[in-house]
Amino acid sequence: MKLGFASLVILLALLAGCSGKAGSIPGVLLTATSAPSPQGEVTIMTTVSPSPTPTGKSLRELAPRRGLAIGAAVDVSTLRSDPVYAQILAQEFNMLTAENALKFGPLRPSRDSYDFSAADTLVQFAQDHDMQVRGHTLVWHNQLPDWLTQGTFSREELSAILKEHILTVVGHYRGKIAAWDVVNEAVGDNGQMRDTLWLRGIGPEYLDLAFQWAHEADPQAKLFYNDYNGEGLGSKSDAIYRLLKELLQRGVPVDGVGLQMHLTLDAPPRAADIAANIQRLGELGLEVHITEMDVRIKTPASPADLAKQAEIYRSVLGACLGSPYCKAFVLWGFSDRYSWIPGFFKGYDSALIFDEAFAPKPAYQAMKDELADH
Ligand code: G3I
Repeated sequence: MKLGFASLVILLALLAGCSGKAGSIPGVLLTATSAPSPQGEVTIMTTVSPSPTPTGKSLRELAPRRGLAIGAAVDVSTLRSDPVYAQILAQEFNMLTAENALKFGPLRPSRDSYDFSAADTLVQFAQDHDMQVRGHTLVWHNQLPDWLTQGTFSREELSAILKEHILTVVGHYRGKIAAWDVVNEAVGDNGQMRDTLWLRGIGPEYLDLAFQWAHEADPQAKLFYNDYNGEGLGSKSDAIYRLLKELLQRGVPVDGVGLQMHLTLDAPPRAADIAANIQRLGELGLEVHITEMDVRIKTPASPADLAKQAEIYRSVLGACLGSPYCKAFVLWGFSDRYSWIPGFFKGYDSALIFDEAFAPKPAYQAMKDELADH
């Protein structure tokens, strides 16, 4: 649509007039971008999408009365570039997890340097908006820098590298990060210890050492073991349970366990199995966090798919709320506009609780209903 500049001003004034706010209409997110042509004409590309402002109490207003922290994983570049993303994050959540900024690779451009800039932005945002931070993750087999994966190190050298990393990173955020995923995904899908650079280079005691170093660097932070596909009951869940029981028996300072909860529509773990698993982990003395929930859907997602997704979100949240040991419920992102899913699972998307236009989906309402339902 081509308009003279004057007409554009009149159009926006008319739109503003009908809503009382400059350039906005209640319930509609109007984005007008214009590119003046050499003749001074202005071409307007408007996108109109549902307002991102959900109605009623937010998730972070409802969750504390149930003793629950409610959070989402956050991408720093998106936080810096998308004001609606930042607005909904602060409005709906009282906890955030660094999706990538606190991983070994992003923090460590070289063996003798650290880059805290992205993570500092995240921690500052959390402090500005009264949010707790989950530090993710100190020891993992993914997102490691080339200088580490391509280097040759003795057991002593690799232990020294890991010790320095943990003491430096946890020390940098001492008192600012409520919980750390100290070790992530150390158990393979076969229930055996995963064959990683850390296991091969240091030995199975790398877990004990990592937790001990993290505790030394920040005695107040809660220290978690985090994993996936062990949320209900089964062989991997049993292996994670055994690992944690043995760590605790050795006096290793583990405070909690993260159940990632990356699910699909067709085979979610049974709520009763999740509840039983949370119960047995809690009886070890561990706090339980749901740490990375999303429910991916084969595209295109139908209304029936979205309704089933909502039921899964509600069911898992209900299992968490039903236990005194489950203290945090964290999503792996919150809007389908920014999700890891389509890049990792071809043909899947729509995994989160706000859609691409930041409009609330049935899953968002289902979570609010579950939180309000007691
Ligand atoms: O930052 C670089 C950028 O400089 C480069 O241009 C670009 C293209 O190569 O890659 C960017 O890094 C990507 C990074 O995400 C940041 O966007 C990596 O390639 C990409 O592999 C990485 O993916 C992350 C994935 O972990 C890595 O396995 C996802 O964002 C992140 O959501 C995902 O999160 C994991 C949890 O940490 C652990 N649990 C499972 C979960 C899903 O895999």
